[in-house]
This record gives sequence, C-alpha cells and structure tokens, in this order.
Amino acid sequence: MKKSFEKIDFGFTKININKKEKLVNNIFDSVSSKYDLMNDLSSLGLHRLWKQELINWIAPQSNQSLLDIAGGTGDIAKLFIKSGGKSADIIDINFNMLINGISNDNRIRYIVGNCEKLPIKNNFYDRITIAFGLRNITYRQLALDEIYRVLKPGGRFICLEFGVVNDDIVKKLYDLWSFKIIPKLGKIITNNEDAYKYLIESIRMFPDQDKLSSMFIKSKFERVKYKNLSKGIASLHSGWKF
Ligand SMILES: C[S@@+](CC[C@H](N)C(=O)[O-])C[C@H]1O[C@@H](n2cnc3c(N)ncnc32)[C@H](O)[C@@H]1O
Repeated sequence: MKKSFEKIDFGFTKININKKEKLVNNIFDSVSSKYDLMNDLSSLGLHRLWKQELINWIAPQSNQSLLDIAGGTGDIAKLFIKSGGKSADIIDINFNMLINGISNDNRIRYIVGNCEKLPIKNNFYDRITIAFGLRNITYRQLALDEIYRVLKPGGRFICLEFGVVNDDIVKKLYDLWSFKIIPKLGKIITNNEDAYKYLIESIRMFPDQDKLSSMFIKSKFERVKYKNLSKGIASLHSGWKF
C-alpha cells in the first residue's frame, strides 16, 4: 500500500485514506451472516422494490452477461438470472459476504476482488451494476473508470445508491428512522451498532444525485441520467459506453 496522508470520510469521521478499505471490510465481516435480514428490517422491505426497479431498467436479455460489482450476498445477480439474463458474475472484496449468499446456479460465478482494479479484460460485459456499493469504496472515480473499461461498447451501467431526499416530511421521518432506529436494530440483530451508524452516516456523506451524475460523465459514460426512488431515499443512475 502506498503511504498517503490524505484524509477521507468514514461516516462522519475523517480517517487516513489507507485505512478505509480495512475498516469497511471489518464491518461487512461482522454483519455478513445477518446482512440480508438487516436489509429487510432496516429498509422495511423497500430495498427489494428498488433492486427490482434496477432490474426493470436493465430489462435482461437471454444473450446478456452481467457483472455485479460489490455484489455481496448476490441479490442483483440472482434477480438478473431470474429475469432472463444469460450469466452473472459477482465481484466483492469480502469473502464472507459472498459465502453468505452463495447460489448453486452455475450461471452465477463469484470473484473475490477489489473493483478499483478489476481482474477482467477490456470490453467484456454487456451490463454492469452496483447496488449500495459505491459509497463504501475508497477510490470511487477509479472504480467508475474500471467499470467503463470492462463494459462492452454498447453496454450499460446502472448504479443503485442512497440519495438526497427531496420531500421535507419524508426527510424528517427518514432521518428519525435512520439515526434512532437502524443503529439499535443493528445492535439487536448483529451485535454491532457502530456498523450501522457508519452505514447511515456514509449515506449522508455520499455525493448527491447530480454530483454522482458528474462522476459518471468524468469516467466517460454517455446518456447519463438518473431517477429517484421513494422521494430520493435511493436513486438509480444509468450510463452507456459507446
Ligand atoms: C452494502 S453492501 C451491498 C451488497 C449488495 N450489492 C446489496 O445490494 O445488497 C456493500 C458491499 O460492497 C463491498 N465492497 C466494498 N468495497 C469494495 C471494493 N473496493 N471492491 C469490491 N467490493 C467492495 C462490501 O464488501 C459489501 O459486500
């Protein structure tokens, strides 16, 4: 690892940039066995609707290959195959997250690796997705450059991530739920309140929908657009490579 004195956000705390990857990995190691249950409880099931919306936007075809980045327990890859896609590869830096969601469907393959340096040749996949992964990555622009590199010309990339809420009443309720309830649920279910504090804080520190669009454009994606889900609690960003 290169020595750097640069600082980066880790939730609301500033840390040395070299430390983020390890801290994020520790979090997912600690919550991996209860990750799916916590997703259902903390989002009141909404994450399933948002993931389905991502799949609807992709509209999988029987000749399409997918790479799901930071795929964790594999929801997106499984939905892609169920909806008619040809094959789905999942890459995640965390072995325990992959193991906790492993499928015996041989159309789904697993890669343990860092998406800042994808072990994949240029122009390889028809579709690439990332769901709730980007904000956990240290070098996000580098990851977007890598995604662009391994996407085939004519291919599409879609990112599902938390966003900035555009409705005052929803924002009040959402903040209350996020800061008061989710960390407590995290404590009861995973015995790790701090992990869920980080996850909530990291959402608030993540670039808003327009800034994320600019990051897509910086990595050369074209026809970049986004749509808000549940008043902006989450959003889907789409970009093409031509
Ligand atoms: C919040 S989980 C999302 C999992 C899954 N995509 C979902 O939507 O349920 C974030 C995932 O990003 C992975 N991750 C974080 N940094 C990564 C990196 N640099 N390269 C690959 N995966 C990474 C974590 O290990 C974790 O599994």
